[in-house]
Amino acid sequence: SFGEEAYRPQIHYTAADTWINDPNGLVHAGGLYHLFFQNNPYGRDHANMSWGHAVSSDLIHWSDRPVAIPCDDQEQIFSGSVVVDEGNTSGFGGPGRPPLVAVYTSAYAEDSPHHGVQAQSLAYSLDGGDTWAKHDGNPVLDRNSRDFRDPKVFRYTGPAGSYWVMVAVEAVERKAVFYRSDDLLTWSHLSDFESKGKVGHIWECPDMFPLPVNGDPADVKWVLIINFNREEGQGGSAAVYFLGDFDGTTFSPASHGESADDGAADTEYEWLDFGRDYYASVSYNNAPEDRRILVGWMNNWDYARSLPTSPWRGAMALPREAALRARGGRLVLEQRVVPGLESSGPKQSLGLLDVPEGVRSLPLECGTEPCLIEATFDAGSATEFGLVFRQGGEEGTRLVYDVERGELTLDRRASGADLHPLFPSADRAPVGLVGDRLRLRIYLDAGSVEVFAQRGEVTFAEQIFPDPSSTGLSVYAAGGTAHLIGLTSTPLTPAPV
Ligand code: FRU
Repeated sequence: SFGEEAYRPQIHYTAADTWINDPNGLVHAGGLYHLFFQNNPYGRDHANMSWGHAVSSDLIHWSDRPVAIPCDDQEQIFSGSVVVDEGNTSGFGGPGRPPLVAVYTSAYAEDSPHHGVQAQSLAYSLDGGDTWAKHDGNPVLDRNSRDFRDPKVFRYTGPAGSYWVMVAVEAVERKAVFYRSDDLLTWSHLSDFESKGKVGHIWECPDMFPLPVNGDPADVKWVLIINFNREEGQGGSAAVYFLGDFDGTTFSPASHGESADDGAADTEYEWLDFGRDYYASVSYNNAPEDRRILVGWMNNWDYARSLPTSPWRGAMALPREAALRARGGRLVLEQRVVPGLESSGPKQSLGLLDVPEGVRSLPLECGTEPCLIEATFDAGSATEFGLVFRQGGEEGTRLVYDVERGELTLDRRASGADLHPLFPSADRAPVGLVGDRLRLRIYLDAGSVEVFAQRGEVTFAEQIFPDPSSTGLSVYAAGGTAHLIGLTSTPLTPAPV
């Protein structure tokens, strides 16, 4: 009934007419943010894995570049990272000519003598990332494992010295493995990390980085990100993080209770995002001003292959900047969308409004083009309150806060397109009110919603496929009267550069 391009995101990265999954090789170099990604150059299925490439000066406007590292009859190019080899430690560059070095997983093809193994390999670029040559001595790190993948390499400088550190996974063993190197060519094992609770089913795409607490460079914690897939029917792909310390050899998670003096149950890990579509999230190397910028694939392996979009499949979530804050004796990771999106037309605003029991339609539309909804509620006497967006007929995506449980739910069971039995979902996240108030920032694009609650300590990224005519917006309350303190809807476009 409507064109296949109806779900083409306007403010998110998609490939023109091919499949993408994980972001790879996120690096800022030569004044540009590079986005490499898992890509099938020949179609919209997960096959022929190669590294696609796009660049941006602001993380919002992307220009496509030719495929960077193509698959061949020997191997597929699985996920990995890129470093700027400033000191030419690898020898791939020359004096004053630091190479970019990609560390990727060789997923060996049937024709390869290594078939059945995944090992880590190198490629390098001497022209700022446009063209890449594979290293002759690949692979550089082989554990003779079938599921050793997704190396994230970064420069470690600390009390223990200055060297390259790799964190990768033994996916099926649910283990993060750490290695070090002086030249990116030879690697020695440092340590392994396993979670006590054996979280997830298959671990993939790890990342690890330091973050200052409250912006204080003298108070640093390490964040270990693990992306994992759950057992069939348990929610599919998810991203979590562990907080702790890294001494140059071992990641030690913060012990239970260490950060929890408010009596709240402390968990071993936290959710990086509570939605169904935030996976393979990793961060930029060398971002200016030590900014820590994360990009996730806005998808879920449960149904990624069934998305009703054509000729492309898959999108990246909006890039987010992460910060660590101490609040009420706990450390909280806060995320916000990077700057660069700009209003493309008049904002529409509503002032103070009582929200009595029931669903009440607002005189605002949102959804024909990308928009940002910013809303602040006061719970008042209500036991539940929230918003319904992309509403029309039976359709509507609901964001509801339960006051007693202190929980925010994103419900996309009536968000259109019956694309897969595992697609309909209602996911919950714990969120505390601040002085009875809940602040929401909601980014809507064709085919997706990203919610940032309060200061961004809780986020949800989800795909939705409503009919393009479903553009209604309503407020909702139950059990009493809530108050909408204010709401603004801003049409969004990438800001001109
Ligand atoms: C994660 C992942 C990685 C792998 C890549 C293959 O989504 O399965 O573990 O390297 O995708 O495309």
